[in-house]
Amino acid sequence: MKQKHYPTLFSPIRIGNVTVANRVAMVPTDISSANADGSVNPRVITYHEEIAKGGCGFIIVGATTPDKITGRPTVTCLAADEDPLIPGLAHLAEAMHRHGAKCAVQIQHPGRQAAWPRKNLMSASDHVLDVPGSAGHEIIYAESFAQGKSIRAMTVEEIYDLIEKFGEAAWRVQQAGFDSVELHGAHGYLIAQFMSPFVNKRHDRFGGSFMGRMRFTMEIVTRIQMKCGKDFPLGIRYSGDEWIEGGRRLDETVEVAKLMEGMGLAYVDISAGIFESPGAVMDPMYYPEGWNTYTAAEVKKHVKIPVITSHSLRNPDYCEKILAEGKTDMVGMCRQLIADPYWANKARIGKKREIRRCISCLVGCWQESLMIKRDMRCAINPAIGDERFIHLQPAEKACNVAIIGGGPAGMEAARISALRGHKVTLFEKSGELGGAMLFCCTVPGKNKMRWHADWLREQVKKLGIAVKLRTEPKVKDVKGFDAVLLATGGTVARPDVPGIKLPFVVTFEDVLRCKNTKCEYYPKNKAKPAQTGQNILIWGDHFGAADAAEMLGCAGKKVTIVTENREFAEWMEPCHRDVMMKRFACGNGEGLKSKIYKHPVRIIPNSSVLEIRKDGTVVIVSNTFERCEVKADTVVLAKVVPDDSLYERFLAADLTVVRIGDARRVRNVRGAVTDGANVALTIEKGVTLNANNELIANLPTGVDL
Ligand SMILES: Cc1cc2nc3c(=O)[nH]c(=O)nc-3n(C[C@H](O)[C@H](O)[C@H](O)COP(=O)(O)O)c2cc1C
Repeated sequence: MKQKHYPTLFSPIRIGNVTVANRVAMVPTDISSANADGSVNPRVITYHEEIAKGGCGFIIVGATTPDKITGRPTVTCLAADEDPLIPGLAHLAEAMHRHGAKCAVQIQHPGRQAAWPRKNLMSASDHVLDVPGSAGHEIIYAESFAQGKSIRAMTVEEIYDLIEKFGEAAWRVQQAGFDSVELHGAHGYLIAQFMSPFVNKRHDRFGGSFMGRMRFTMEIVTRIQMKCGKDFPLGIRYSGDEWIEGGRRLDETVEVAKLMEGMGLAYVDISAGIFESPGAVMDPMYYPEGWNTYTAAEVKKHVKIPVITSHSLRNPDYCEKILAEGKTDMVGMCRQLIADPYWANKARIGKKREIRRCISCLVGCWQESLMIKRDMRCAINPAIGDERFIHLQPAEKACNVAIIGGGPAGMEAARISALRGHKVTLFEKSGELGGAMLFCCTVPGKNKMRWHADWLREQVKKLGIAVKLRTEPKVKDVKGFDAVLLATGGTVARPDVPGIKLPFVVTFEDVLRCKNTKCEYYPKNKAKPAQTGQNILIWGDHFGAADAAEMLGCAGKKVTIVTENREFAEWMEPCHRDVMMKRFACGNGEGLKSKIYKHPVRIIPNSSVLEIRKDGTVVIVSNTFERCEVKADTVVLAKVVPDDSLYERFLAADLTVVRIGDARRVRNVRGAVTDGANVALTIEKGVTLNANNELIANLPTGVDL
């Protein structure tokens, strides 16, 4: 078959002696879903099999420890440190091979960044560094730096013991039938700790010069080659730039690639960052597509073995371009294939609009999973970690479902309900679907959020869901429906303080109103965003506050935030927060070239607004009753509470009604999408409310509510 779309992307490539059918690689992704002993289970198989079915050519299974006693990167990562783990790994390889994918396992020892054990962690060097972003530490080791986390330099004996364990682990992976093994030398994990001039301060033969810092890696490579044979394709992942003062830069990265090629490695996989530069490791929304491609392009000029690039690759057009231009040999994706395991298949047949593009929010896959020692989820793809959504059960009999509110919760509920065969009517009080996701359109660097709004809007259209815009239904309008889902989102609170009704007091919704008239969904007669002055005071601590501060700060305004919390945005995903705070201080995230703010954003913590005066004076009181005054041309209210004003009325009218998304509890896009998906799975003939006022159907025989 002649490949009509993206011919380079869908051309074969050789990795050592293995032929891969296309140029799409899944870069290693620790899904932390294995059993407690590190063995493979059905969840691990389903996850990887979906990606193989979805047409990915080369799947590198994420961090797999060679020694779970001394280090697990996440508490339920895979392990390859005992022979009884081989059969499970073999099932995993077979599942991917069945769909034509070639596969590797990434062997990874976390060293200082272990999620388990928590103490006495091994590293190249003794000194304690603050690595807050690594799995589990932010939560478990709050203020770990101050407390002194026990990290110690490995003895030479321990180094040789671990080199042997790497060799053994690689041999087990080979025995299990995998096509390749990758070493994890990126992101500040153990191999990277030895390679990095920033971390490795040893004075023995495993430190010092470039070759000293490379010795641990080289000894591991040699050991693996002795155990598995030189023909067994071995690759290495490491960061093109560590993005930290004193860390490895691109020139040394090229030297590493040449050294590795010289030792017979089959490929190099060029990543970015170290955990002290979290933005570069797991690039948040702000980062543009392929910002890290230049590192692979430079390495490619110096070696002949295949080079993989990664980071924020989402669009097949861009991937085709960098491949065709010779900047990389393969395009590596992690989060994109979590959000849509069928990316490759969709691109191959030219269905680009069908791709559910990852919005890089890191909420499901990191903040609310691996970071807090749980298994992997995805904010926009509920099927990750929840197999009920992979094989959706059609409803026995179609029900009439009314959904009120067309934000992420409402649209996801509409989508899954319609896919299951229900008849859905979606009511939306404004002139367009999208809800809170649309506020991000105007925030520089955050408009990826609109990708998901657009994807859902497209699905709603495709599934023929009846949409009633500018409609706020009353009880009589939804009386005949089997189930009513209230997805009315959040609303801005207006605390009862003097001056709250002054004309220069607006809400974050007024300020962030999207004005992109070129958008195909843009409605007629949409209200314009509120005008703001130069001095802005934002009162609140949720997405509305952060987004308004970013939008206005970027526009050169002087922004002050008042929050009742001890720090602003503690709820935010840490990589995003790290980059946002650097931008607030007129800086940027590592490797990010976004517009620098003209003025730093001032944050007044532990405080609340007492009064807003006509002349723009805002009186602020702290939790120790100290007062201060700030002059503002515009006050932006940004405290959000659930908008469930219809709920009690609907319940009283005996409707089968539940709240989903922010209408239930103000959270984030993941909370909204998950609620929407779950509720849509429950709706069946005879659906009613249980004693907790949640939906229930399919009651056991003999029980009649
Ligand atoms: C949940 C999660 C798990 C990850 N696990 C690994 C891993 O095991 N090994 C690794 O080298 N990188 C890991 N990464 C980093 C990714 O491979 C990738 O480099 C990064 O997410 C940026 O690429 P993307 O935009 O395609 O996601 C992980 C990232 C995420 C979000």
